[in-house]
Amino acid sequence: MKPLHFSLLLLLCLSRTDHGLGRNSGHDQSKCILLEADKGSTLKVFHISSPCSPLRPKTKNPVSWEESVVQTLSEDRARVTYLSSLVVFGKSDSQVAWGRQLIQSPTYIVRVSVGSPPQSFLMAVDTSNDAAWLPCSGCLGCSAGVGSSLFASDKSSSFAGISCGTSQCSKVTSSTCSQNLCTFNQTYGSSTISSTLSQDTITLAQDTIPGYLFGCIQKATGSSVPPQGLLGLGRGPLSLLSQTQSLYKSTFSYCLPSSKSPNFSGSLRLGPVAQPQRMFYTPLLTNPKRPFLYYVNLLGIKVGSKIVDIPPDALAFNPTTGAGTVIDSGTVYTRLVEPAYIAVRDEFRRRMGKAVVSSLGGFDTCYTAPTTIPSITFMFQGLNMTLPQDNFLLRSASTSSNLACLAIASAPNNVNSVLNIIANMQQQNHRVFFDVPHSRLGIARETCT
Ligand SMILES: *[C@@H]1O[C@H](CO)[C@@H](O)[C@H](O)[C@H]1NC(C)=O
Ligand SMILES: *[C@@H]1O[C@H](CO)[C@@H](O)[C@H](O)[C@H]1NC(C)=O
Ligand SMILES: *[C@@H]1O[C@H](CO)[C@@H](O)[C@H](O)[C@H]1NC(C)=O
Repeated sequence: MKPLHFSLLLLLCLSRTDHGLGRNSGHDQSKCILLEADKGSTLKVFHISSPCSPLRPKTKNPVSWEESVVQTLSEDRARVTYLSSLVVFGKSDSQVAWGRQLIQSPTYIVRVSVGSPPQSFLMAVDTSNDAAWLPCSGCLGCSAGVGSSLFASDKSSSFAGISCGTSQCSKVTSSTCSQNLCTFNQTYGSSTISSTLSQDTITLAQDTIPGYLFGCIQKATGSSVPPQGLLGLGRGPLSLLSQTQSLYKSTFSYCLPSSKSPNFSGSLRLGPVAQPQRMFYTPLLTNPKRPFLYYVNLLGIKVGSKIVDIPPDALAFNPTTGAGTVIDSGTVYTRLVEPAYIAVRDEFRRRMGKAVVSSLGGFDTCYTAPTTIPSITFMFQGLNMTLPQDNFLLRSASTSSNLACLAIASAPNNVNSVLNIIANMQQQNHRVFFDVPHSRLGIARETCT
């Protein structure tokens, strides 16, 4: 059977209740759509809380908008704390994602086929990780939910476990040998995940990649094991980018759909073909200690027409301390180090005049039915990104409360944080083009379809 048949899938609505961000609970009239096969080198990207997402959290009592915001912020905090600690306290090993902690925030997912004949899986897209993994059959402690089955490696004729002492195994930090196979542990939240380094053919849209290396999860202990796989898009020695160098030339772009759009579909375009020809770019910077992260040079932030007065070292890139700004697909709300956040927030509040400020979870700048709202512009080297309101104002789904919050937060102050993170809400409905060979990142507005 051709791989194509496997990506032609009808995703069934699994739940009639709705608790996606920004949607009305209990009034889900959306019809789940027939997903057409992914074509060429472009994969459809879905928001995890899409009505058609099999991974949409299923709870008996749908959470309120306020609760879901607080919950997302707290999940974000764990990721931000992890990314911050990674750049500040870490040792200078570059294979961190493959041998240590693993943080996966599955906000955006794609469908990937693995094996011969191909088996279809959902995988989280994560630009700050260079690892890939799948829960495998026989896994102890993995949860196989609906739409998130385990990979049956024994049914794939092209599957192979990687032996100890191979060059591939040596790239994994702190691997151990188990029955002559290269195994490694990672922590995910409060859980420990034990995987075998493995290889098999994967199919991304219509592209077939033989011998792709990933972690086949054999054992998971703990309660926070995510049900789906991970497709890391970071740069690194075992990353997707490195493994598909001849095919995709370390280039990709995505358009992340808004969680508010009814169809929630965006795209992940792999390789140099069909990328935007004309757009503004900002240089990609490399921290030699954490080469898989995508650092950019954020020079300043404008609120309305005013360039906010931010201490220069709150934004400056410093590969020694890890300070600077990364662009990340897995964090939901942009985090700025405290002095930068306070300067932006104070100017935003000043522009809002006498309107009464309230707070919600970690957001401290919320208004009821705000009217004139100043714009926000990230001033990157070579590129000013003026955010449409939907990219920085989080509006309550319920018309009765009419609350709107500035959806940018201060980096958690329990870590000695030096990292600013441009997160996915701020990138939604933009084409973001990672052009690694030219060390540049392009950003242009685009309505994701
Ligand atoms: C990996 O985790 C398993 C438990 O899942 C444990 O038995 C094993 O000792 C760990 N290996 C290493 C190298 O930490
Ligand atoms: C959603 O998808 C359906 C079916 O593909 C399409 O007809 C409709 O126009 C889409 N709606 C939006 C807002 O894109
Ligand atoms: C960005 O905006 C600033 C301030 O308005 C301006 O000085 C600068 O030239 C702009 N940069 C680009 C690349 O357009």
